[in-house]
Amino acid sequence: QRGGSEEAKRNAGERAAEFVDDGDVVGLGTGSTAAHAIRALGRRVDAGLDVEGVPTSFQSRELAREAGVPLTTLDDVGNVDVAIDGADQFARESGALVKGGGAAHAREKIVDASATRFVVVADPSKAADELDHAVPVEVLPSARRPVAAAVEALDGEATLRSAERKDGPVVTDNGNLVLDCAFGSIADPGALATDLSTTAGVVEHGLFVELADEVLVGTDEGVERRRY
Ligand code: A5P
Repeated sequence: QRGGSEEAKRNAGERAAEFVDDGDVVGLGTGSTAAHAIRALGRRVDAGLDVEGVPTSFQSRELAREAGVPLTTLDDVGNVDVAIDGADQFARESGALVKGGGAAHAREKIVDASATRFVVVADPSKAADELDHAVPVEVLPSARRPVAAAVEALDGEATLRSAERKDGPVVTDNGNLVLDCAFGSIADPGALATDLSTTAGVVEHGLFVELADEVLVGTDEGVERRRY
């Protein structure tokens, strides 16, 4: 469990699930906060809501199945009406995000970027004046060293993510590796996002710039809603 209290995460996730309308296709985010939204959506489906979910990871697919949320794919539907997803950090002013703490950011970005409305669920521990969280970068296995060198040329420090309960690296749902890239304070997330996106061998990075429509910040008492 990362970040704030379970109660705060639940408040954010459950509020986001209330935003879903009958007939919607919903992007199902990854992580402990989005999990509350998926479970809440499952309860609404039990009560008669007609929705389909597009999972962003192995984890969210399994959880949606357990919760009884019917599933579809972007291949079938093309885009989603609303995406509900967590974040590792968000910038209070701009709503820019760092995602990928669970190594799911590549699929998350595809689904979240396709959404008519992208709702981020977070808790106060995720808020920052300036993003300074290490940026997860998914790389093709053969590109690990050249991408690490490119990150260094951008004044960053790249660390290959290793798995906790396995001897070796984290392998993403797409069969790739993750470099956690520390840049210190990120003054211009848009410029860094472009630099990373244009580096050969990068599959996707965890900077989500100008994508979030709102961030629901759960607290133990309720939810603060920030729109962008
Ligand atoms: C998954 O790769 C991430 O992008 C998650 O969305 C992020 O790590 C948030 O997870 P928590 O809600 O568990 O903090």
